Amino acid sequence: MKTLWLKFSKITRLLKQGRLSPLLKLTVVLGSVWMLYLLSELRTDWSLNYSKWEYTDVDGGPEKECNCSAILQGETKAVEKAKLLALSEDFRKRVRIPDEYYINAAKDCRNFKLSRKYLTFPLSKEEEEFPLAYSMVVHHKVQNFERLLRAIYAPQNIYCVHVDKKSESSVFAAIMAITSCFPNVFMVRRPVSVVYAAWSRVQADLNCMADLYNASTEWKYLINVCGQDFPLKTNLEIIQMLRSLKGQNNMESEQMSAGKKWRVTNVHELVNEEIKRTGKQKEPPPFNLPMFSGNAYIVVTRGYIRSVLEDDRIQMLIEWGKDTYSPDEFLWATIQRMPGVPGSTRPHSKYDMTDMNSVARLVKWQWHEGPQDSLEAVYSECHGQHVRGVCVYGAGDLQGIIAQPHLFANKFDINIDPIAIYCLEKYLRQKALAELH
Ligand SMILES: *[C@@H]1O[C@H](CO)[C@@H](O)[C@H](O)[C@H]1NC(C)=O
Ligand SMILES: *[C@@H]1O[C@H](CO)[C@@H](O)[C@H](O)[C@H]1NC(C)=O
Ligand SMILES: *[C@@H]1O[C@H](CO)[C@@H](O)[C@H](O)[C@H]1NC(C)=O
Repeated sequence: MKTLWLKFSKITRLLKQGRLSPLLKLTVVLGSVWMLYLLSELRTDWSLNYSKWEYTDVDGGPEKECNCSAILQGETKAVEKAKLLALSEDFRKRVRIPDEYYINAAKDCRNFKLSRKYLTFPLSKEEEEFPLAYSMVVHHKVQNFERLLRAIYAPQNIYCVHVDKKSESSVFAAIMAITSCFPNVFMVRRPVSVVYAAWSRVQADLNCMADLYNASTEWKYLINVCGQDFPLKTNLEIIQMLRSLKGQNNMESEQMSAGKKWRVTNVHELVNEEIKRTGKQKEPPPFNLPMFSGNAYIVVTRGYIRSVLEDDRIQMLIEWGKDTYSPDEFLWATIQRMPGVPGSTRPHSKYDMTDMNSVARLVKWQWHEGPQDSLEAVYSECHGQHVRGVCVYGAGDLQGIIAQPHLFANKFDINIDPIAIYCLEKYLRQKALAELH
């Protein structure tokens, strides 16, 4: 600092005596302007007025037409109004943001981050000291992706984005433009073309896991998400939950039911981008490892990822699993029960964890919905729409799902119910800013 000051006073003296070349003069002036700019940047971040990070309705939100606090409290009138609004084609068109908007807006990164209210500093020391890694696998609906990224973004975390190789070029360009605005958000090095229920779905996550493992040694836990997930908790709540796991991984992992065994006992192949049975039987898994079922979404330690990338037994399991059906629904759950994997649990059935008891993901399956007093039902009825047997949440689902312990919920879709996402993101940001006081 002292030498810097000496240099500075020497330069000012030379400047006064007119002994500097015009080019050097210009450099000095530009340098000083830059210093002033930096100082003003620092000052804005240090000032204690956090209201500029609150979401408002300036980004075309439906706030004028519906009342998020009433919706979050489950008030029937507000929920019914939101439902009608979401059903209107005209309204959905009005709030839709085209890919081109993101391509253009993200050209000016500073303004993009400012206007979209991305957090530019860790909200607490606790969060700063507990960085997370996110693997994000997406294929369309950039608006969904950008809102998800904004909701989970914190400068201390690190994000790998896998955009499907088959995605439209505008999707790729828009997401590329957004990621290039952040030093800690990057595109996966090796994207693949993802086929439903085939190995490629796992490979997309594996490629991001490898990149995240390589990019930083700091992060403590990895969470994988898809474009239709949304958090139910703030970053602070997420890391507090993860710390309470005391180094354990968390995911659905149960004994594989007889009804699902066919998935791993038959050889499958891709025919015209669809997965089909070949009629051949598969060899048993390496080391006769017991198989477990779960889902694609996990919350795991860095040690678990190290095992996935380096443990020879797991490399053999991965090779063996490449011609199975829906390997994402057994691979992570099976690795979680292998002795020696950091954060894993024993294979005994007493350690089974259901999706409802795991915090990784809340999914409402259509055939498990029912009224509150039902002995059969697992969760309340869907207020949105069902897609492939899964509830796409409507505004009326919010009150129930934010009360769950899960960190994330699936599915949200800006084209089906934009109000559910708008109200949820607003609620989370308000909560995160309130945690500062
Ligand atoms: C904080 O900033 C907002 C606008 O960004 C302004 O309306 C408000 O008065 C400020 N509050 C304080 C206490 O400075
Ligand atoms: C929104 O709903 C809340 C909760 O019922 C109520 O207190 C508030 O006044 C409402 N706001 C508007 C603008 O209607
Ligand atoms: C990541 O990979 C590159 C090249 O493969 C290597 O040079 C670098 O050391 C790796 N970084 C980490 C943190 O492993």
